[in-house]
Amino acid sequence: ATPPAYTVPLPPALYGNERLNSRGLDLSDENTLRRLAQVFLAPNPHLTSTQGTPVRNPANRDDIVGHIGFMGTADIESAIQQAQAAFPLWRDTPATQRAEHLERTAELLEADMPRLMALIMREAGKTLANAVAEIREAVDFLRYYAAQARGALQDATPLGPVACISPWNFPLAIFLGQVSAALAVGNTVLAKPAEETPLIAREAICLLHEAGIPQNAVHLIPGEGAAGAQLVGDSRITAVLFTGSTNVARLIQKQLAGRLNSDLTPVPFIAETGGQNALIVDSSALTEQVVADVLASAFDSAGQRCSALRLLCVQEESADRVVTMLQGAMRELRTGTPERPETDVGPVISAEAQTMIADHIATLATQGHRVYQTSLAPEAQSGTFIPPTLIEISAISDLKKEVFGPVLHVLRYRREDISQVMKAINATGYALTFGVHSRIDDTIETLKAQSHAGNIYINRNLVGAVVGVQPFGGHGLSGTGPKAGGPLYLRRLLAQRPALPAE
Ligand code: NAD
Ligand code: ALA
Repeated sequence: ATPPAYTVPLPPALYGNERLNSRGLDLSDENTLRRLAQVFLAPNPHLTSTQGTPVRNPANRDDIVGHIGFMGTADIESAIQQAQAAFPLWRDTPATQRAEHLERTAELLEADMPRLMALIMREAGKTLANAVAEIREAVDFLRYYAAQARGALQDATPLGPVACISPWNFPLAIFLGQVSAALAVGNTVLAKPAEETPLIAREAICLLHEAGIPQNAVHLIPGEGAAGAQLVGDSRITAVLFTGSTNVARLIQKQLAGRLNSDLTPVPFIAETGGQNALIVDSSALTEQVVADVLASAFDSAGQRCSALRLLCVQEESADRVVTMLQGAMRELRTGTPERPETDVGPVISAEAQTMIADHIATLATQGHRVYQTSLAPEAQSGTFIPPTLIEISAISDLKKEVFGPVLHVLRYRREDISQVMKAINATGYALTFGVHSRIDDTIETLKAQSHAGNIYINRNLVGAVVGVQPFGGHGLSGTGPKAGGPLYLRRLLAQRPALPAE
């Protein structure tokens, strides 16, 4: 049976850090943060040593943000040995002490927020608002898993060295979410960040060490996919936490099928993967609200969120109105470099991503689908940008795969076909986020019950699940569960799981 989905509105963040940091900086004041981040947006000599592979700013490919030494096979072997040797000490460290180290890391992140924001903006091409949200989410993960580890799980038995393999689109929040979960319950960690964003991951590991976590309990493994594959294939790795594409999750699962843990149990594997996320808008919905929520869902973070809206299904009676208003609103979005405060939409991560997205748009245009595309700001010439794009499609089967960028597909449906539309959405096999905009309770309840998605949003946008309040994750092609930032996640990282509390 499908576990319960989470609907909104829900209470505000439990752990959100709307308060002063240890340097007296008001973390809820985005203007102050913006001003301070500007100081750090200039090239940083600490990061510009020329050792290793250059990491380029996606908003300006000529800007080298820093260099990183990718690890070779022997370096990774040595890190695994050290993580295995460190395991007994970390396992036997009292849970409360482990939690204190994670909470101290959260404080260090808050203290260093402007510098880290600037690095995220330059390395991942995030806007300032997205960079602020990213750090807050990382802090939330650290505090949430620390709180969990102090509670019912404090006497639980961890597994051993765990591989954490993460994507570039939340290079701090997802990276630290995985790592803090594994560390909280006493596992040691080999953390493989995405090759596109290793610098912010390196900063995060330094902060974990500075907060008191032993050097050998958590290792950064910079490298490409092969580095991840080496970890997955190593018999000393006792669990794999993966967030990324559905294809790579399949490769990892195949590799894990070839081996067991030393107690002959299957290797625990958490995969959080892609989506083909849809929103159904009936003719009772409030158009202004729909437009604002669609903009946030489809184009925030340049559409580079697994949760982002890819498919807008609008009832035909209101479709012209919605599409016209949407195009007008899209025109108001500024697509440019993130260091310009007025920018709403930044670059996509790489030239490869840009080509893939542009090819997809061109293919649908060639097939005769109507395409509406906004324009780029004048300075957006040396980066990898795709302006927000809307494409009208005639069948959900026109969508063959997840297109990870600011591209929204729109399908007009007839009222009597709504269950067919819902079936076709489920038939994509993805089940991550889903939304309904309607003022008819029956419609909302029916679609909610029919959707397979992990996170369902009613009359709001589809992005920005809050740690501890809206556990996040999908089913089918979108992931294995348990949901990140939820009460069950840490239990997958234990050898012996305490019984669930009685309902
Ligand atoms: P990706 O799958 O290309 O890479 C993810 C990580 O896997 C990287 O660190 C990469 O180096 C590593 N990797 C690549 N090949 C590997 C292999 N054979 N073995 C082990 N590791 C390997 O994904 P990406 O492009 O970095 O991220 C975008 C994807 O992530 C999108 O599909 C998006 O939907 C998904 N995503 C999902 C969630 C979620 O919570 N469900 C969150 C964020 C991103
Ligand atoms: N957890 C992120 C969101 O909900 C991916 O947008």
